[in-house]
Amino acid sequence: MEFRSDGLIQYYTDSGAPKSSDKKPAGTLVLIHGFPHTHQLWDRQVSGLSAHHRVVTYDMRGSGKSEGGDGTLLMDFLADDLFALLDHLRVEKADIAGLSMGGYVALQAIHRSPERFRSLLLCDTASAADTNTAKQKRADQIRHVRKDGMLKFVDAYSDGVFPPETLKKNPGLLQDFRSMVLQNRSDSVIDGLVAMSARPDHTETLSKIGIPCLVLVGEKDTVTPPETAKTMANAIPNAQFEIIPGAGHLSNFEAPEVFNQIVHRFLATLE
Ligand code: MLT
Repeated sequence: MEFRSDGLIQYYTDSGAPKSSDKKPAGTLVLIHGFPHTHQLWDRQVSGLSAHHRVVTYDMRGSGKSEGGDGTLLMDFLADDLFALLDHLRVEKADIAGLSMGGYVALQAIHRSPERFRSLLLCDTASAADTNTAKQKRADQIRHVRKDGMLKFVDAYSDGVFPPETLKKNPGLLQDFRSMVLQNRSDSVIDGLVAMSARPDHTETLSKIGIPCLVLVGEKDTVTPPETAKTMANAIPNAQFEIIPGAGHLSNFEAPEVFNQIVHRFLATLE
């Protein structure tokens, strides 16, 4: 399905919407993927959670089937797209979950308009902005994509994403990941790297988050490790904190059953 934001056609999916016979409307869980993913990052959440919850996924501007802009990408524009999606769906208050870069978008959106959200789920993400060293690494990645193209970039990028034990047990996961990432064009991947490099630091604003919050992280996440997630959870009033055993940076993708159980339990407390 499609909505428009800033004149650009954006792709979304909407599953498990409450039937008109339902007495009490369930909440709407909107899932924001990370970099350089598509809405398919959440396929196992759509199948696992939509029996009980309305689950919305979308392709971030420039990713998957969503049109990109003019090459200027900021977290603020990605937050604009999220608000446009909520308006399109006529959702007043959403439960919002962001994984990694999706978490950066969620934090920017909550900072701007906290009244649009009922709860916040931060998955394998961080509140801090890039350090100078991290910005330099992004510049290297941009050079790499420009010079060698997406195939080589994906090979190099995939390396740190999954713990080796996960790939031993489930080698097909890497193939699923690669085919998802390869749906993205190199220019949108470059835009994503620039946007992450320029993102605001939300560490100081965590203490102002006034809605129920769940912080989830894979035990073996090396991109946004459990210590980072724990520090973030401690700074958010009354946040719940959960570690997903054995999972790496894409905890929802690697351990969907455990991930879904935790999310379901959290959302059930809000109904
Ligand atoms: C992501 O998974 O969205 C990115 O790896 C996050 C990042 O590089 O900061």
